[in-house]
Formats: sequence, structure tokens, C-alpha cells
Amino acid sequence: MKTIISDNINKAIELLKNDKVIGFPTETVYGLAGNALSIRAIEKIYEVKQRPKENPLILHIANKQDLSKYCFVEHEVFLKLADKFWPGPITFLLNKTSLISEMVTASKPKVAVRIPNHEMALRVLKNIDFPLVAPSANPFNYISPTSAQHVKAALNAKIEFILDGGKCDKGIESTIVGMHKDELIIYRPGTISLEDIKKIYPKVKLNITDKSVQTPGMFKKHYSPKTPLIATHHINREIKKHSNKKLGVLTFTSSSPINDTHIHYHLSPNLDYNEAAHNLYDFLYKLDAMNLDLIIVELLPEGGMATAINDRIKKASAC
Ligand code: TXA
Ligand code: MG
Repeated sequence: MKTIISDNINKAIELLKNDKVIGFPTETVYGLAGNALSIRAIEKIYEVKQRPKENPLILHIANKQDLSKYCFVEHEVFLKLADKFWPGPITFLLNKTSLISEMVTASKPKVAVRIPNHEMALRVLKNIDFPLVAPSANPFNYISPTSAQHVKAALNAKIEFILDGGKCDKGIESTIVGMHKDELIIYRPGTISLEDIKKIYPKVKLNITDKSVQTPGMFKKHYSPKTPLIATHHINREIKKHSNKKLGVLTFTSSSPINDTHIHYHLSPNLDYNEAAHNLYDFLYKLDAMNLDLIIVELLPEGGMATAINDRIKKASAC
């Protein structure tokens, strides 16, 4: 199939209304979007992503008023979080209503839902009368795409259309939160950090290994390039150890290549975590296309958003 990359919103809407799945821009990463109320579209998403059926899909809606159609908001903290952060990169786990198929939630009682903060995504969502499911538009276990070109490269002619909304602003997937007893749990860290959420609800904790909610984003190996990858705080030491190999190096603190035999990208010339998140997957896509023996990535100094970025780097490295 020939994949068209285009900014034609009307074409995107027409395809979605016809149960097709398309590449879909958001502020975090590109999604593989389809009608959340259409079994055909849902099946197609699992097929294109080669995603195991026990891995549920995130719902994307246009406005807060629609929330009660698809889920029960049983705790007011979600309304407060929505007021503060939506549209934006935070996803809530809430008990689903009967409108949402068990195929979306992989037979779990809760559905994941968010309002994306991307002008084109919102225009699409406001012009259809159904919500979209949109997991990241990468094959299962590969790096999430942050541009239309990444989607095309990763899905290799399996979809006919990618709505081009430019390079994703945030660059890593949304923060996922859910309530357990009276505690808010962060199941997947993101650019909205524990500290940001604490200001609204102090009883919040990070738990990315809780087995009671199975979020495959928590699986150890995830978001991985095909090239082997090492995550480290000691970049020079690792480079010396592997100096006989064709190396790709991604650094945060050091701006110049340690020597000129390896390919080097600097995650953030401004030493800024937002910029590092924005660039991470793009650099991994580039390095993974270069036939290297090994990619070495420097972990960021801990604090705030570093939790989310280091989580993705570590997952890319696990074998
Ligand atoms: O930023 C994002 O969240 C992007 C953009 C496209 O919106 N989407 C995204 O989707 O990252 P995905 O499917 O790649 O990651 C969603 C994660 C998966 O690990 C999935 O298992 C988990 O959320 N998840 C979805 N529904 C769930 C549920 N009902 N219970 C527990 N985990 C759930
Ligand atoms: Mg994903």
C-alpha cells in the first residue's frame, strides 16, 4: 500500500468515518487512530501494530463533557487534574461505561482516556461524533514515532494515510494515572511529573511495577531500537569499553563528541529536560537507521521530568 503523508484534515476525517486507521499527530507521540466504537477499526489497530490483544488502547476525546459518556469519574481529583492539564499529556484510568467495548480495554474494567493538546488532533476530534482509540503508531516494542516520517518508516506501508502535524512538541508518551484506594498512582511517568501532580493531589506516588494494573508500557523491554542500546551515567567509560565498535552516542551533559569515530547527537544543547524529551526518539530513529553496532545513551541527572526520560532510555536498553 502507498502511504500518503498529508495535512488534509478532511481526508483524515473521511477515512476515520469509514473505519480506517490513520497516523495521527498529538503533542506527545503520533498515534495509530481509529473509531473507538468500531470493532473493525479496533481489530485493524491490533493487526497493524502487531499488538498482543491483552494490551489495552487509549481513548482520545475532544472535550471534558464527553468524559461521562465513556467513563465514570468517581473521584474529583480527576476533574481537578483535567482542569489543570487538559488538553495535555496526562491519561486517566477510569471505570468504563458500556459504550466502550472490552476490546478497547482488553477486558479490564478501566479505560485509559485523554484530551490531546494538538491543534490538528483537536480539529479532527471535534468534527467526528465518536472518540478515537490511538496507541502509539509504532510496531509493538519499537520506538514511538514523533514525526509523520517516523510513522511511515516504522509501519512500512501498512496504512494508507498519515495526518502530518509536524514534529511532536513533547516527544514522549503521556503520564498515566489511576486511583488505587485513596492514592493516586502514576503507572507511566511523563512530562507532567510527580511534582506537578503533587501540587494538586499530595497523595500521589510513582509505581511503574505494580502488577495489579498491567500496563505493558511497564514491561522491561519496550520502546527499543533494533540496534543494541546501553543506558549509562558514565558515558566516557562505556565509550572506551566499546571503542572497537561502530558507535552511536547520545549525550545530555556533554555537547561535543568524545572522539570523531562515533556518531554523536546532543539531546539538549540548552541542558533542558523538555528539549531532551522532544529530541530523544527522533535521535533514536536516526541512529537506528545507521547500521551501528551499538548505541550508548547518557541517563539524565535525576529530578522532575528526568524520571520519565530515564524510564524510556532504560526500557530501550533492556534485553
Ligand atoms: O501519549 C500517549 O499516551 C500516546 C498518544 C498517541 O496519545 N499514546 C500511547 O498509547 O502511548 P500506547 O497504547 O502506546 O500506550 C498506552 C499504555 C499502554 O502501555 C497500555 O497498556 C496502557 O497505556 N493502558 C491503556 N489502557 C489501559 C487500561 N485500561 N488499564 C491499564 N493500562 C492501560
Ligand atoms: Mg506505545
